[in-house]
Amino acid sequence: MIQKPKGTKDILPDEVYKWQYIESKIKDIFENAGMKEIRVPVFEHTELFSRGVGETTDVVQKEMYTFEDKGGRSITLRPEGTAGVVRSYIENGMASQPTPIKLWYEMAMYRYENVQKGRLREFRQIGTEVFGTSSYLADVECIMLGVKIFKELNIPNIKLNLNSIGCPECRRKYQEALREFIRPNLEKYCDTCKTRFEKNPMRILDCKEKKCKEMNQGAPIILDYLCDDCREHFDKVKKMLTDLGVDFEIDAGIVRGLDYYTRTVFEFVSEDDGLTVLGGGRYDGLVKEVGGQDTPAVGFAMGAERLLEVFERYNKDVAKQKVMDLYVANIGEKANEFATELVLKLRDKGVFVEKDICERSLKAQFKYADKNNAKFVLTLGDDEVETKKAKIKNMQSGEEIEVELNADEIAKVIM
Ligand code: HAM
Repeated sequence: MIQKPKGTKDILPDEVYKWQYIESKIKDIFENAGMKEIRVPVFEHTELFSRGVGETTDVVQKEMYTFEDKGGRSITLRPEGTAGVVRSYIENGMASQPTPIKLWYEMAMYRYENVQKGRLREFRQIGTEVFGTSSYLADVECIMLGVKIFKELNIPNIKLNLNSIGCPECRRKYQEALREFIRPNLEKYCDTCKTRFEKNPMRILDCKEKKCKEMNQGAPIILDYLCDDCREHFDKVKKMLTDLGVDFEIDAGIVRGLDYYTRTVFEFVSEDDGLTVLGGGRYDGLVKEVGGQDTPAVGFAMGAERLLEVFERYNKDVAKQKVMDLYVANIGEKANEFATELVLKLRDKGVFVEKDICERSLKAQFKYADKNNAKFVLTLGDDEVETKKAKIKNMQSGEEIEVELNADEIAKVIM
């Protein structure tokens, strides 16, 4: 038997309704804040990610699904959504529209990761990107959207961690200090860290190797190197969140796994299992980096599988699968024809109604209705079709009511 590739997931019918529930809640939250949905291609030119996400990141160095297409182009399945949305923003001239441009998306992403809890190779992200404002207010608006999503979905035990990683100017000084700190032990770091030492020493702080993590203890922190503008920006973000009554913790260790971030970065972490459910931040240099005008931007993305997992933990009975209103059981040729037409008319009225399409016995039809938890069952034989009257059974109470055989009457009884 052919099995699904490692790190992928089937979302089966008895799960999909929970997805639809959280998706519709989040869509309302985004759209009430003026965000418009965008959908971009699953694959892009590889260069978009190597330039946008960063040559020294794990995502680009180790995790991309990259292949040459039949025309000899290097193509990559998107490992994240921001770079593609930025490309689309530039290519479609969104910069000429009134700012800010506020977008949201739900898209599948692909990363060749070590598969483990909460870490898949195909996963979905629900995210937002806001272009054209460098104000701290945009950072706060994004963070507050995250806060609202967890609140509306009734998910407790979520911690907001915040940091600022400054601008290229503060980072130059910081990276020098970091190199000074790392240099005496450089030989003992892993090979990947060694290659990142000159180009991007901040990446070394994100290394998952135990020995590298240990040596990173006591490293200088970026917050001590912020320039005045970056410090003021971060102070305003913190003050406004505090004024809005949002709990957060400053975590100087957040560097994020993608290179495009500047200034504010944030993560919402589930305290139950330590998994980061939402990650994001400001990326003021990315639009220019991939060929657009200098445009500040900020955004975040949630791992939808992780979000669903924490949602299910606290919301056992909230999202409900649709239940069949009526099953029309029938026997005999005339009754079958009548039932087919009746079902089509009832569906036009918005009734969830089914009938036999397997040409099975009445007994088998009743069994199907029962197994699928039909609320009512209407039984039709040729006699009922003749008299235009039939019995409808309430499957919970067992009560039977006689009804006129027309769609309006039936809908009235069961709805
Ligand atoms: P990220 O932190 O790489 O950021 O991913 C965002 C979220 O996607 C993570 O917090 C996690 O919940 C989920 N995620 C990431 N990798 C996996 C995986 N292998 N399996 C399951 N879930 C995963 C970004 O991708 C940025 N584009 C976010 C952003 C948008 N920043 C600004 N705008």
